[in-house]
Amino acid sequence: MKKIIATLLVLLAATTLVVGCKKARGTLIGIAMPETHVLRWVKDGNSLKAEAEKLGYRAEAQYGDANQATQNQQIQSFLTQGAKALVVGCINDGVSSVIAEAGRDKVVVVAYDRIIPNSADYDYFITFNNFKVGVLQAESIVNGLNLAEATTSAPKYITLFAGSPTDGNAFFFFDGAMSVLNTYIDKGVLKVVGPYPKTSADTANFQRIATENWQAPIAKTRMENLLNNDARNVTLDAVLAPNDTLGRAIIEACKADAKYRGKLPVVSGQDAEFDSAMSIKNGEQYSTVFKDTAKLAEAAILLADQALKGQAINIPGAVLASGDLAKIGDTGKKVVKTYLLDPILVTKDNLNVPIDAGFYDRTEAVKLQN
Ligand code: BGC
Repeated sequence: MKKIIATLLVLLAATTLVVGCKKARGTLIGIAMPETHVLRWVKDGNSLKAEAEKLGYRAEAQYGDANQATQNQQIQSFLTQGAKALVVGCINDGVSSVIAEAGRDKVVVVAYDRIIPNSADYDYFITFNNFKVGVLQAESIVNGLNLAEATTSAPKYITLFAGSPTDGNAFFFFDGAMSVLNTYIDKGVLKVVGPYPKTSADTANFQRIATENWQAPIAKTRMENLLNNDARNVTLDAVLAPNDTLGRAIIEACKADAKYRGKLPVVSGQDAEFDSAMSIKNGEQYSTVFKDTAKLAEAAILLADQALKGQAINIPGAVLASGDLAKIGDTGKKVVKTYLLDPILVTKDNLNVPIDAGFYDRTEAVKLQN
């Protein structure tokens, strides 16, 4: 009898799985990623598609080329094809009109990594603790410069860069970083060269250090200008760089300046891009922040799946943002349910962390380990 019941239970479980998959099968999830010039998004798109297919969905990934009109057309096309869920890493607030349309069609929208601003037409956001990303960047600078022991008679010099002012994350990264750096600046042991917004709320100065659409050439040119003007008579000890793509552009500009040939400033980053990991290994870039985007993708698809099935949302490995962090989910029109994953600081000392997480392919991992 026991055996029969056990067999029946197994059969029941198998049928539920098949039916679940069947229900998913044929259902389209549209994946709209913002750009390809920052490499992570290509990986994100691939991971999201694979995760959706694993759960039996049809999935298609499109890349918006940092152009919101292009991405809107892609989202529109997903809707025309009858997509039941959208996973969107948007470019700017111009996305809200298509999200409104998705909302009217009862399509499940998950804001992916970046908030969809100015919209009350969706419910879910999954990302990393972006304030903490900034904190980690700044902490690596504090360590790299040994700021705890710096004195006002021999202060260290830093210049500040921020990400795209059209990307909500850029504000959290910056404010997280300044929550750490301001202490040393106030003490007079760290001096800012160039514009100094104490927080992103100083809009005028924030705009001066921001990098439209995270474009590396913009950061490189700004760094070259700084080196020839504001930083002409000092030697920079550090640069707050918001991500790896911009960090490497900043390092390139420094390398072209004789003053930095022997000793580059401490430069932060984010994304654990392979080229930056190599640069860290070679003693150029100082740090990066590893965000396991494979886990983010898995979590985002699970979130979409649970929402599509009307189930309670339960995302292992993510915390529901609350208290101060809930503002990460403020679209300006509504506070959406926001799930946060944890970022990890990576320097030369723990480059193995993203490698061990399987973040790089085999060839890359071998290069990083040799
Ligand atoms: C992401 C970063 C990325 C940046 C540029 C941000 O929204 O969180 O990981 O480096 O966009 O693409």
